[in-house]
Amino acid sequence: MNCRKCGKKAVINMRQHKLGLCEQHFLDWIPQQTQRFIEKYGMFTNDDRILVAVSGGKDSLSLWDVLARLGYHADGLYINLGIDDGAHYSSKSQRIAEDFAEANKLHLQVVAIESLEGFTIPEASRRTLRGQGRPCSVCGLTKRHVLNRVAREQNYDVLVTGHNLDDEAAVLFGNTINWATGYLTRQSPLLEAKSGLVRKAKPFFRFYERETAAYALLRGIEYIYEECPHATGATSLYYKELLNTMENRRPGAKLSFLLSFLQAKESGFLADGDSDDSRELRTCQSCGQPTTAPDTCTYCRMWEQIRSRQPRTIEGRHT
Ligand code: AMP
Ligand code: FES
Ligand code: ZN
Ligand code: ZN
Repeated sequence: MNCRKCGKKAVINMRQHKLGLCEQHFLDWIPQQTQRFIEKYGMFTNDDRILVAVSGGKDSLSLWDVLARLGYHADGLYINLGIDDGAHYSSKSQRIAEDFAEANKLHLQVVAIESLEGFTIPEASRRTLRGQGRPCSVCGLTKRHVLNRVAREQNYDVLVTGHNLDDEAAVLFGNTINWATGYLTRQSPLLEAKSGLVRKAKPFFRFYERETAAYALLRGIEYIYEECPHATGATSLYYKELLNTMENRRPGAKLSFLLSFLQAKESGFLADGDSDDSRELRTCQSCGQPTTAPDTCTYCRMWEQIRSRQPRTIEGRHT
């Protein structure tokens, strides 16, 4: 297949878009499309201060690169989760994020959960029943809380993450088979700010994972190839596999699944009553972040409990 723009040999063939592009035109296409999505969904403007959640993976580093190329004012935030047993996942991804920032003269801040709360995520997970021994639930809650808190305290206008189409389609699939209407209502490429929650945007939500990976590769961006070691066997990976099987049969299936959902939602498919967004938000007495709980937020309660508990024994009981 040849490049649609110049006729040279294509380096990427995107069957889902019926589009082949050469290296140069693909490297132009990604920022052009990103800008189109930013404007179409009203995510942010050139006047906004943007905080990019940078994990050291291909999506968030490519996103940071694209936003910088487009001339946005975007700083990075890396959260060190302390996942270092064996694969050195956290120290490696932090080093990659720092090198990227330095090479591109971008500002990156690092928050280490162990310094903030006294324990790494794997240690914390061994001290709570939350997540039933898997650290992902403690980790997800902690990341969401810290990202919002930093963005808010430092007056960023918007927090952006590198979620791609494969991530979004997998979440949608999971929420659909469970008919989790509350989550479905909130699944969106843009969540407006409200009572203590900062505006959140996902400018890469329409890109396939292989498109962001190709972008990182062709731009020479070093990123961490390994998945988090705790992700093995996660349901979201299983959903991604299922969706890829569909995609192989029918190119474009993932994109149409997500876009049709967003369209259906826009036209009122989920009534407001299905949203738990309507619940009143209060202020956590401990950290000042918004919460639906009467006094202390889930994050503060969880970490309080983690600090007061002993690690689980091998049998999985609390001592
Ligand atoms: P994941 O949940 O690992 O698929 O990551 C989704 C997005 O969350 C990434 O593209 C990043 O924008 C953000 N993210 C994940 N892990 C971190 C981290 N350790 N520090 C900052 N942002 C992160
Ligand atoms: Fe959080 Fe794996 S447990 S990234
Ligand atoms: Zn070309
Ligand atoms: Zn709190």
